[in-house]
Amino acid sequence: MESYRLVINGGKKLEGKVKISGAKNSALSIMAAALLTKDPCILKNIPRLSDVEIMIKVIRKLGVEIEWAGNDSLYINPDGFDNYEAPYELVKMMRASFLVMGPLLARLKKAKISLPGGCAIGARPVDFHIKGFKAMGAKVEVEKGYIQAEAEELVGNDIYLDFPSLGATENIMMAASLAKGTTKIENAAKDPEIVELGNYLVKMGANIKGLGSDLIRIKGVEELKGVNYAIIPDRIEAGTYIIAAAMTRGKVLVEDLNIDLLKPLIVKLEKAGVKIIKHKNSLKVIGPERVDSVDIKTMPFPGFPTDLQPQIMAFACIANGASVITETVFENRFTHIGDLRRMGADIKVEGHSAIIKGVERLSAAPVMASDLRGGAALVLAGLVAEGITELSRVYHIDRGYMNLENKLTAMGADIKRMKEQV
Ligand code: UD1
Repeated sequence: MESYRLVINGGKKLEGKVKISGAKNSALSIMAAALLTKDPCILKNIPRLSDVEIMIKVIRKLGVEIEWAGNDSLYINPDGFDNYEAPYELVKMMRASFLVMGPLLARLKKAKISLPGGCAIGARPVDFHIKGFKAMGAKVEVEKGYIQAEAEELVGNDIYLDFPSLGATENIMMAASLAKGTTKIENAAKDPEIVELGNYLVKMGANIKGLGSDLIRIKGVEELKGVNYAIIPDRIEAGTYIIAAAMTRGKVLVEDLNIDLLKPLIVKLEKAGVKIIKHKNSLKVIGPERVDSVDIKTMPFPGFPTDLQPQIMAFACIANGASVITETVFENRFTHIGDLRRMGADIKVEGHSAIIKGVERLSAAPVMASDLRGGAALVLAGLVAEGITELSRVYHIDRGYMNLENKLTAMGADIKRMKEQV
């Protein structure tokens, strides 16, 4: 695998516009859901990201025909596939591969998926997913690092999630769509990705009520049909560019986004002195001379998204005053702090909270992305730092940002991708 670094010459204002790509997390779950039918379908507005390419590999490995059909469309034909195994080599690269478990159990009554294991931002177990499948009558065993599940038939049941997990809600919803009887998911995730997956399943013929609430009811149907579907814009990508514009004292029109889904961020930014002019599917961000501090606590949707926590921390690093950022969703999502400190940030950690005293200016330093959103935070820091920041392990960032340096360059940033010297 070729390895790259980003070289960012900081201090440029971002100006102009940026168009938001399709939502990564929505694309991943809807690609998995496409396996629930025998009919082919076309999914549109799929972002060209390494995570999407891994999901394509997982689905192809199952024996399903899946191809790019144009720039941002995927053709999937899941007729007659019979492999039910997602191997370690792929699942270890992307935890979301686990989302094929529900569809496999529903379609083939069998699934064998490598246990995802830990990752940089926390242990991230899959126990809620398994609890759900077991409640629907599946026999689930862990053997040699693989989760093996089998069910003669899946039968709907009442399932209470200890935490409103996005992935578990998605996996259970998919399996329940073809189960016998009704499944009730209590304390379900309310994220837009759930609503989108549900809308897609309903379009396929599923019977689902309560999407967007914490009680989802799914009445199983005999079969689902193939339908074409367009993926919503990525709220986290949009949020990242909004923060970038605000931090660089920029003036940027962010196009193709759903403003309602970004409310938790917009409210905080406005309070910190950022001017946001809202249009129907776009918004204009005007950054002040210096942003004010922000206090943030990440929460399940509709709270402040954990996937924007590292980026808002980069913002807090140059704010006027002290900010407190508390992470409640993942137990170890502060891995970006060490590198932000290397760039001159003043951050103290107390348990799950970070206390950030804003400095006037960050200074460039060699830094390293250790996960996707933490990497994005370092890009933001690099954009405002004095000097040239060299950011390595860009592959983490490529998981979730399509054409990152092209989009930033078009707005006036000085950022280049270079091959890593080994
Ligand atoms: C999804 C998103 C990810 C986002 C996260 C939280 C995808 C592909 N990824 O991840 O970008 O950061 O939601 O918004 O959509 N948990 C358990 N047991 C389980 C499942 C989850 O303890 O079986 C815990 C996790 O460790 C974590 C919390 O629940 O602390 C939330 O995780 P979850 O919502 O499941 O995140 P993902 O679906 O993995």
